[in-house]
Amino acid sequence: MTANAVLSPGPPNHEPSNSGVSKMVRLIRESFAVVEPHTDDVARFFYGMLFSLAPATRDLFAVNMEVQRSRLLRALVHVIQMVDRPDELLPFLHQLGRDHRKFGVVTAHYEAVGTALLASIKRYAGDAWTDSVERAWAEAYTVMASAMTEAAAADDGPAWYTGQIVHHERLSWDVAVIRVQPDHPVPYQPGQYVSVEVPQRPRLWRYLSPANAPSDDGILEFHIRSVEGGWVSRAMVGHARPGDQWRIGSPMGRLTVDRETSPDVLMIAGGTGLTPMRAIIDDLAQYGENPRVQLFYGGRTREDLYDLENLQRVAMHNPWLTITPVVEDDPGVSGAEHSTLAEAVTRYGAWQDWDVLVSGSPGMIRATVSQMLVARTPLDYIRYDPFTLD
Ligand SMILES: Cc1cc2nc3c(=O)[nH]c(=O)nc-3n(C[C@H](O)[C@H](O)[C@H](O)COP(=O)(O)OP(=O)(O)OC[C@H]3O[C@@H](n4cnc5c(N)ncnc54)[C@H](O)[C@@H]3O)c2cc1C
Ligand code: HEM
Repeated sequence: MTANAVLSPGPPNHEPSNSGVSKMVRLIRESFAVVEPHTDDVARFFYGMLFSLAPATRDLFAVNMEVQRSRLLRALVHVIQMVDRPDELLPFLHQLGRDHRKFGVVTAHYEAVGTALLASIKRYAGDAWTDSVERAWAEAYTVMASAMTEAAAADDGPAWYTGQIVHHERLSWDVAVIRVQPDHPVPYQPGQYVSVEVPQRPRLWRYLSPANAPSDDGILEFHIRSVEGGWVSRAMVGHARPGDQWRIGSPMGRLTVDRETSPDVLMIAGGTGLTPMRAIIDDLAQYGENPRVQLFYGGRTREDLYDLENLQRVAMHNPWLTITPVVEDDPGVSGAEHSTLAEAVTRYGAWQDWDVLVSGSPGMIRATVSQMLVARTPLDYIRYDPFTLD
């Protein structure tokens, strides 16, 4: 487990709003710091106990557990540490609970996961495990599990959708566009993401943001970059074929724009982090009048900006849209800014009163949000989705 893994970067020096919760978070963080050097052992103990308490849960995880590097345990610990940020956490947990229905998770599994989590931290925390530490972990877990199970129970939509690949096209050696025709329309908002499972990698669900606005034919367009050593992205880019059946979970995420009420929108996208922004632009382009949209689209090289020509074409016909390409390591490229995205954006000041949407790798999101806060962009105006724990 990496110490800097984040579900959501969070503001630097964030002060919890209420002292009871703040104490709870402190107790959780301090006790977790003691077990952190032993996370492989903690994970082995956690899954061993979970599978003995609720044997049916074994089938929810990959056959080879090493592949996933204990994603669930890492996710649990990081979500628990966000318990002091309920405004962000609760809407996320409601979506996550609805999405977890795709695993066939039932309430009894939540009890087993909670018991296994506390038992494994206790075992490796030694003297740091006190009654108040136990209460803090138990309370935080209960808050999370209740939010997830209640939202799951209240949703009467399907636990997942099935879709068939109708188009697979490689744009470059590492990027593919894949179009999927679902058997029922997936009710997502432009800018949201879904988790998908592909036949080449059973039980390894991964998040993808549709790159198009919901369309009449229901087709979802995905842009996927194959990451080095990536289990699922490599299979999607290299081995997925028309006719493959994908499973698609419930929509999640909060990168949406309400064109009636939104102020001007600053979009900052790195690589395939473009996808949610592209879906929003695709939606707005159906209307003549929109808030101003300024998109900074960045990558290491010009090749990483795989969709730039298309975006520039859209901007030519839609005066509310401006595109600024940004490249980091390609000094010969003209018509682009040369720096990191964070530097390029903050060069223009604080973007006071703009809605700021950020999407890209965890490192890019962290760097951009931190630098914008330093440039005095108000945190309340910045939105980004939780990213995987890499
Ligand atoms: C909200 C959200 C939306 C997303 N939308 C998209 C999308 O539209 N298109 C898309 O291609 N991907 C998207 N992703 C990323 C995607 O979900 C996977 O994480 C990514 O494809 C890697 O999965 P993998 O199984 O190939 O790699 P894994 O086997 O999980 O990881 C293998 C290695 O790759 C590294 N790695 C994982 N992700 C990245 C990354 N993004 N950049 C660099 N290194 C990485 C890991 O650290 C690890 O070392 C999104 C992620 C989130 C959280
Ligand atoms: C409060 C409780 C829970 C929280 C906060 C939570 C959170 C999460 C998150 C954020 C992920 C995504 C991780 C990623 O893709 O990087 C995840 C994955 C997963 N969760 Fe949960 N979860 C909870 C309870 C459960 C329960 C009760 C089960 C049932 C056993 C479960 C089974 C899974 C599985 C199978 C995965 C896929 C990843 C893997 O194979 O490790 N979760 N969880």
